[in-house]
Amino acid sequence: MSAVSTSDTTIALEPLVDLARTVGREAAELVRERRPAGRVPVATTKSSPIDVVTEIDRASEALIRRRILDARPDDAFIGEEDEDVAGTSGVEWVVDPIDGTVNFVYGYPAYAVSIAARRDGEAVVGYVVNIASGEEWGAVAGGGAWRWAGEERIALAPPLPVEGTPVDLGSLLVGTGFNYSRSVREAQARAVAAMLPHVRDIRRGGAAALDLCAVADGRLDAYVEQGLKPWDLAAGSLIAAEAGLVVSGLDGPADERLTLVVAASRRREFLELVRACGF
Ligand code: IPD
Repeated sequence: MSAVSTSDTTIALEPLVDLARTVGREAAELVRERRPAGRVPVATTKSSPIDVVTEIDRASEALIRRRILDARPDDAFIGEEDEDVAGTSGVEWVVDPIDGTVNFVYGYPAYAVSIAARRDGEAVVGYVVNIASGEEWGAVAGGGAWRWAGEERIALAPPLPVEGTPVDLGSLLVGTGFNYSRSVREAQARAVAAMLPHVRDIRRGGAAALDLCAVADGRLDAYVEQGLKPWDLAAGSLIAAEAGLVVSGLDGPADERLTLVVAASRRREFLELVRACGF
């Protein structure tokens, strides 16, 4: 069983991923049940007029917070929509109750519950469920990543290149996303426009957690985005890393400045392209 240790404690990780899954499935069910037909009303906006929150985001986060802290009252909790809770156990949960909120509002079927547990700032457990489709992915640090097919866990491995096309940058299907701030978007649009002629194509799915799982599952070859928050990337980046991809930032770990995911064999070239495009 995978576990992480510090000087005074060892924490078994399987029970944490089981908890993440139980709670994540319950939250996904709540979101599905409460979603009205058509468009979902917006409760308020955050960083910009297009950065929206619904009452269902808040209800999903409240449920996840309550269930996790009832089960593990000494843990810390960071959620996208509410105040942080400090803890004493050394385990910190990082949660996006609905990643892809704009998709959720419109009924575009790519929005997810994303739950990670971190230890010393590093994700050690990750769980993502696509609320609309019911697909689920999970990972445990040092224990691999998988997609669930019912109760069966199918292990994820580094995806193979598409047969019949040369293994170069021009064959990469690259996922990305855009920030809610207009000035950041302008720079992102320039960088994506510069990249497009050099790759197979670009995809913008609208839920970073699902994009990261898509790379882990071979549905994308690579991913690059600026401006991701910890709750957007904590679970998905562990799932991608445990599936055998390289997850990084520009000069170190993935962070708000940049998140980059690609197979180790293409990393050097892809990083050069990302830099050259001005990400
Ligand atoms: C957003 C989505 C989107 C990404 C944005 C995120 P939210 O999260 O993950 O794909 O491009 O950077 O903020 O607001 O839907 O939880």
